[in-house]
Amino acid sequence: MSKLIRFGVSLDRELLQKFDNYIKTNNYPTRSKAISDLISNVFVKEEWKKNKMSAGAIVLVYDHHKRELVNKLIDIQHDFHKIIISSQHVHLDHNNCLEVILTKGRTVEIQKLASLLKSTKGVKYSSLLAATTGKEL
Ligand code: NI
Repeated sequence: MSKLIRFGVSLDRELLQKFDNYIKTNNYPTRSKAISDLISNVFVKEEWKKNKMSAGAIVLVYDHHKRELVNKLIDIQHDFHKIIISSQHVHLDHNNCLEVILTKGRTVEIQKLASLLKSTKGVKYSSLLAATTGKEL
């Protein structure tokens, strides 16, 4: 972020009250920080809509006993090795595994990888956290 600029905003009283409650609930130190985050979130959403370079985390939970599941998940990840920065596998219990796959690439590619993993038979839970490289914020 570059130089800070101060500007005035006119808001409906009730909307401002709701916003101040939101700020309090979410532990924001100032309205400025909360507004800055809301604006940044809009730009990150745009980044994902416009297939820009971005970063994301894919979370998977699956039972590694399911036949062929682990091999399928590995095959899919190898097909996307160019956008996978790192992955971590944790054995949650005797059956269940938690995997986090960190990605950096075009958003369409990240979403494609996430949907292929999610739709693999035997995956119990899957989620994509659409983050940002932070370069354009
Ligand atoms: Ni495991």
